[in-house]
Amino acid sequence: MKILGISGSLRRNSYNRRLLQAADAMLGEAASVHIFDLAKLPFYDADLDGDAKPAPVRELLQAIASADGILFATPEYNYSVPGVLKNAIDWASRPAYTSVMRGKPSAIVSASPSTLGGVRAQVHLRDILSATLTPVFPSPDFLLASAHKAFDESGGLVDAASADFLQKYLQGYVAWAGAQAAGAQGGQR
Ligand SMILES: Cc1cc2nc3c(=O)[nH]c(=O)nc-3n(C[C@H](O)[C@H](O)[C@H](O)COP(=O)(O)O)c2cc1C
Repeated sequence: MKILGISGSLRRNSYNRRLLQAADAMLGEAASVHIFDLAKLPFYDADLDGDAKPAPVRELLQAIASADGILFATPEYNYSVPGVLKNAIDWASRPAYTSVMRGKPSAIVSASPSTLGGVRAQVHLRDILSATLTPVFPSPDFLLASAHKAFDESGGLVDAASADFLQKYLQGYVAWAGAQAAGAQGGQR
């Protein structure tokens, strides 16, 4: 299974990007997580959103279309998602209700140095994805709190309980995404 990883942080040492890398390592043979770099996207501009879209936007749309699912790892910025993440979703969301986001099985994780782990950004992101008809894995949330202390030198999670939770979360997500895809194919027959 091919999962597109989208981190809401452009920071070189982003904890959220590290979380996506940890997810890729944990999933092993079951799935690969390819991370799309949001830094190359321009700001959303409806004047640029015609037939000849900017090349990075075409790359994003193609990456979403060819993925079996999207794994979002979002920081929390001022109690919500970072603007770069909202911007990417805005580009991917058109045409409204029939975009590449529609029906794409997604999952949301977050990392923050705070004790709340970015939970408020997760809530906002779920709401945003409902506007794009993007289903989100129904599961207890995976939040990485105290993210500045959470990773070991090889990029794994220090805390065994968090690592175990993430492993189960990812396995559940991949199984659910596969079932969603099978259901969609069944519906087309
Ligand atoms: C503009 C800005 C706003 C922030 N607001 C919050 C916030 O509301 N809640 C929170 O837990 N952390 C907040 N933070 C701290 C981020 O969680 C922290 O910078 C984190 O490392 C960002 O994720 P990253 O490591 O993936 O870049 C904020 C950081 C910035 C730069």
